[in-house]
Amino acid sequence: NMLSKDNFDHFMLKEIFDQPNVLRDCMRGRIINAPYSRPWSPQQKGKNTDSLSVILSAVTLHRRELLRARRIIILSCGTSWHAGLIGKQLIEHFCKLPVEVAYASEFRYSDSVIEPDDVVMAISQSGETADTMAAMEMAKKRNALVFGIVNAVGSGISRISDTGVYIHVGPEIGVASTKAFTGQVTVLVMLALALGMAKGTVSQEEYNTVLHELVMIPDKIQKVLEQNDKIKDIAKKYIHSKNFLYLGRGYNYPVALEGALKLKEISYIHAEGYPAAEMKHGPIALIDSEMPVVFLATHHQLYQKIVSNMQEVISRNGKILAIVTEGDEQVKAMVDETIEVPPTIACLAPLLSVIPLQLLSYHVAVAKGLNVDQPRNLAKSVTVE
Ligand code: G6P
Repeated sequence: NMLSKDNFDHFMLKEIFDQPNVLRDCMRGRIINAPYSRPWSPQQKGKNTDSLSVILSAVTLHRRELLRARRIIILSCGTSWHAGLIGKQLIEHFCKLPVEVAYASEFRYSDSVIEPDDVVMAISQSGETADTMAAMEMAKKRNALVFGIVNAVGSGISRISDTGVYIHVGPEIGVASTKAFTGQVTVLVMLALALGMAKGTVSQEEYNTVLHELVMIPDKIQKVLEQNDKIKDIAKKYIHSKNFLYLGRGYNYPVALEGALKLKEISYIHAEGYPAAEMKHGPIALIDSEMPVVFLATHHQLYQKIVSNMQEVISRNGKILAIVTEGDEQVKAMVDETIEVPPTIACLAPLLSVIPLQLLSYHVAVAKGLNVDQPRNLAKSVTVE
């Protein structure tokens, strides 16, 4: 039951643990076993994943407008904006289409140009965020196709969208967004693949690989969740920290932003997310033994460069917590703490690497005795400006 905490202490923890199941819900009916057009069943784990296809009715029905699009503009706020940054990388890679990601609150008052051939995507958990809604209305007036990626069925944003894809992760009650984020990223992966296939910009081989990996993500998240006790112990060591830095690159850069936001929202610890290579242009000045740095250091793009960033932090006595790929030896030998995630491909890394960061902020907040589900000054949906 999505509206009860079941045996969990907080909705946030329950929603973190819901992720394997709700991501299966998110994929159900959209990913099929191609030769038989049979729904791919998340229950038949591991079987017949060689011939999967993704079918999104929004892409099928609006194929013509989507193929004509010269640009996609993604509008959102908060955690949904972080998902948008991942969406940009996915769509630019698989669809070879330029994507801009804007904060809806800024976009609505900007002179940004919207052409009729632009597709505007609004990403929102609640579907009621006032700024996102206003930015969409603006795009509609300028005749862009408005595409909603929304969780709450029947919400304002879902109603004013021309078309879209529901996230289908069930009601999210905890103010700090968790399962909606992984649901949004899952939808964005499916969307980039479906559109890339329609445009002919993704090879059959890459398409198969990504889908094959995507359907295994729920089981891999489960493996990360099994480390909950370990993450809880790590969290206790950090409750007196006043500042945190989160660093990542590529697909893991938005995850660094999201990890920092989670900590701010519920633990009230100041945290900043940065692309790891930008550290030298400012944040490095802050590093000392009082400043924990969380590195997203999974085995993907630019791993070795991240390792050299770590060395810079270590030589300034900074404490490091690194999220690494299972079996990593190099980073483990260097840093104070590591949390392992199963291997996957780069574009799906956020779905795994965000999980320990959600749990870390949760356990820091609980250890500090804070109200996790209803943090001070924050609202679940911001329906006013
Ligand atoms: C509020 C919530 C965040 C959320 C943001 C955007 O700030 O506390 O968790 O990410 O709004 O909300 P939306 O419903 O549009 O995704």
